[in-house]
Amino acid sequence: MEYKQLNIDDISFFEKVIGNNNVFSEEEILQNYSHDETEDLSFPPEVVLKPKTTEEIVKIIRYCNVNNIPVTPCGARTGLSGGSLPIFGGVALSLERLNSIIEIDERNLQATAEPGVINQVFRDVVAEKGLFYPPDPSSKGSCFLGGNLAENAGGAKAVKYGVTRDYVLNLEVVLPTGEIIWTGANVLKNATGYDLTSLMIGSEGTLGIITKIIFRLIPLPTKDITMLIPFNSSEKACEAVSAVFRAGITPSALEFIERDAIDWALKYTDVKLQIDDEVQAYLLVEVDGDNMDLLYKDCERIFEVMDNFDCGEILLADSERQKNQIWKLRKEIAESVKSNSVYKEEDTVVPRAELAKLLKGVKAIGKAYGFQSVCYGHAGDGNLHINIIKGEMSDEDWNTKLTLGIREIFELTHSLGGTLSGEHGIGLVQKDYMDIVFSEKALGLQKGIKNLFDPNGILNPGKILK
Ligand code: LAC
Ligand code: ZN
Repeated sequence: MEYKQLNIDDISFFEKVIGNNNVFSEEEILQNYSHDETEDLSFPPEVVLKPKTTEEIVKIIRYCNVNNIPVTPCGARTGLSGGSLPIFGGVALSLERLNSIIEIDERNLQATAEPGVINQVFRDVVAEKGLFYPPDPSSKGSCFLGGNLAENAGGAKAVKYGVTRDYVLNLEVVLPTGEIIWTGANVLKNATGYDLTSLMIGSEGTLGIITKIIFRLIPLPTKDITMLIPFNSSEKACEAVSAVFRAGITPSALEFIERDAIDWALKYTDVKLQIDDEVQAYLLVEVDGDNMDLLYKDCERIFEVMDNFDCGEILLADSERQKNQIWKLRKEIAESVKSNSVYKEEDTVVPRAELAKLLKGVKAIGKAYGFQSVCYGHAGDGNLHINIIKGEMSDEDWNTKLTLGIREIFELTHSLGGTLSGEHGIGLVQKDYMDIVFSEKALGLQKGIKNLFDPNGILNPGKILK
């Protein structure tokens, strides 16, 4: 793809639309917007724009569309598939100033927010009204709602409550051609035409720029219990996962953590946990609701299930502090791995009863290709984050041979009924593997959709599709 290089006239136009102080070309700022949390990738934009309103975005995008300037929307840049990297330079369009929670409609259990609101800020504000916004990616303290929609973020609670897509009713979107549309209606049921709301969610900023979001909320559960269950075999831990659901229990989180992941997180954080040498993996299980007696009954049933899988002594968090510490350990795994070694992260997902087979297969592929992996993730959803560690691998093997190994991992995932990404998206780094899970026809339909929305290919080019 050939795009226009920005010149002084382009910058003057942007300054006229959003004011000098919201247009940034300083090297340091361009560097800041050159990366997200994906590996060590860096693609600086030529300019960073920080508009405040939908109307300003319309003016910017119209101009870029006519002048063949690539526009990459970005939020907090916490993504893990390179979705917001400005790989062709051009404009990084930051949504950080569209950060209002416009309305909380307590009568309808709905809320309207802009894309630049931080996930945790939103969940805290609705919680004050006794309402719950469940999607909780590990980066919730900094990631934006808009980015969560772009990648259809999940998180630990998805296993009981679903993912971002399940909480969005309607969207205001600026199309790459500059028109504004609403995708749906503010209703809980909708059988009216094609579902443009769902299409926008998970489209990684390639089809339009989301400027307003109507969320559906649910009542906030008031009680929960957290437990940490050790296993001497990672595969046994994985096998126990589907047994919990078969026993009729739906935990509000069911996470799998390999020993190495725990060890690294213990080094990286201030959390203290005594672990026996034999422990190979943990399941972190949470149940929630409003009635403590019922929750204890759920726990008893979970203990019974776990008994069949040779688990060790179960740690039941007995204080808020201990609960927070356990969750801190889990949520900081990604950062811990990052701080320890060069790595690549794959976000595989399989039907949950296939998890043990996936894990076993990943380790066998690692052996064949000479890489180590650290695995953890949302086991209740069959969603395994596989962190491939560079370790002693040569640069050449890392950059060439590994691609074949990753392809094998995804082929295995697919053969087990799964797919490439559960919640991190395809973005830049997984697009080469899309042929494993989609036929040419199915890929062609996706390309057709992209062309229909973005005929000039200016919006977040080079993502998802080759
Ligand atoms: C997590 C992120 C990496 O589960 O998705 O911690
Ligand atoms: Zn995750």
